[in-house]
Amino acid sequence: MADTNAKLTVNGEEYELPIIKGTLGRPVIDIAALQESGFWSYDPGFKVTAPVESKITYIDGGKGELLHRGYPIDELANNAEYLEVAYALLHGDLPTAEQKAEFFEKIREHTAVHDQLRKFFEGFRRDAHPMAIMVGVVGALSAFYHEDLDVSNEEHREITAIRLIAKMPTLAAMSYKYSQGEPFMYPRNDFNYAENFLYMMFATPADVDYEKNDVITRAMDKIFTLHADHEQNASTSTVRLAGSTGANPYACIAAGIAALWGPSHGGANEAVLEMLDEIGTVENVPEFMEKVKSREVKLMGFGHRVYKNFDPRAQVMKETCDEVLEALGINDPKLELAMALEKIALEDPFFIERNLYPNVDFYSGIILKAIGIPTSMFTVIFALARTSGWISHWLEMHSAPFKIGRPRQLYTGETRRDFVKVEDRK
Ligand code: CMC
Repeated sequence: MADTNAKLTVNGEEYELPIIKGTLGRPVIDIAALQESGFWSYDPGFKVTAPVESKITYIDGGKGELLHRGYPIDELANNAEYLEVAYALLHGDLPTAEQKAEFFEKIREHTAVHDQLRKFFEGFRRDAHPMAIMVGVVGALSAFYHEDLDVSNEEHREITAIRLIAKMPTLAAMSYKYSQGEPFMYPRNDFNYAENFLYMMFATPADVDYEKNDVITRAMDKIFTLHADHEQNASTSTVRLAGSTGANPYACIAAGIAALWGPSHGGANEAVLEMLDEIGTVENVPEFMEKVKSREVKLMGFGHRVYKNFDPRAQVMKETCDEVLEALGINDPKLELAMALEKIALEDPFFIERNLYPNVDFYSGIILKAIGIPTSMFTVIFALARTSGWISHWLEMHSAPFKIGRPRQLYTGETRRDFVKVEDRK
């Protein structure tokens, strides 16, 4: 609701800009009136720009608060299953027992992928990064669901969300199996979401006695929940921007996967483990810290655009990390190294002054490693989990009128000049 206006004077002309308050968080200044002023607003990195209105996720970076549909992330991670959280992201509330049973059943019905999709995997080199494969095969789903998919139809949008959430574990596990040269495993619909994913990752057809591990399953499910959504981050904004053109939703999610892959975003969990490998031992931490301070390298798994005191996801992740390592009896020197790094960084003025704290990816990599997930799969797991968030934002956008996303620019290139024939160019 706009209840007051901000005033902006540009070239002697005064503009009244409505101030709009949400239910939580900073109010925004609606700058649409600038259209008439002859100026654009300029905000590289969208540091102060809200391009959308959303009801899905709220973050208070100062307080370290993350709410999905109003529910605090730690309560969700500690009490709900990932699919319940996915339901809340999609539909606005946690499901009743009946809605939960129905939703889980729908997801189970759609876990399998078209057999033809196997051929796409065969087109990749065995050593292809699984994120490269995921960009390709999730994008390829658009070829299976295109002609009959009408994005203006609510039922079509709903089934798209179900299909994506259901098929992501299958595709993620297939990308791993392919890299290992092992046969793909069909989904087990008698297993829950996390169990099924771990089964498709680690079982083989010869494995008649595949055993589930409850601690690992629960940790995996928590990792899914902690990564499910994070409001208008780079990959979600990518999905929304691609979706704003009316593009096929599977292609939009593939665009989100591509954006997530970068080391400043979801690629950070993989980068944390690579960084720990590079540091090697605790004795090398001070030398590494000097490199960080001279800006030669970044301390991966530290810092966040929004959280400036702590990342609430990192707190739950740290507890889960302790549980998993204890349950599995793992005493990994990498963990000791990570803890030494964390301690030094938290006490160092360089990090304190810049409000740099461990983020979710600092610990998730350590848990995934303990579970036996190879480093190259870390970001794939992030993508699997984030799919519920991405598609919820896509649904939210499509359930109301929206405009194509089309930013402006500050042009600093050549001014108009005449064309010169190639033989006359100097
Ligand atoms: N190590 C060392 N210095 C850092 C780091 C870091 N990880 N992050 C920020 N800084 C410094 C940065 O150099 C700058 O210093 P100065 O003001 O002296 O130039 C200051 O802190 C502010 O940094 P910024 O680049 O303006 O911050 P940002 O909000 O643009 O970047 C970030 C946020 C997450 C991209 C960045 O902190 C980073 O690259 N972190 C490492 C990668 C990482 O762990 N990413 C995962 C984010 S959580 C998962 C997700 O949501 O995707």
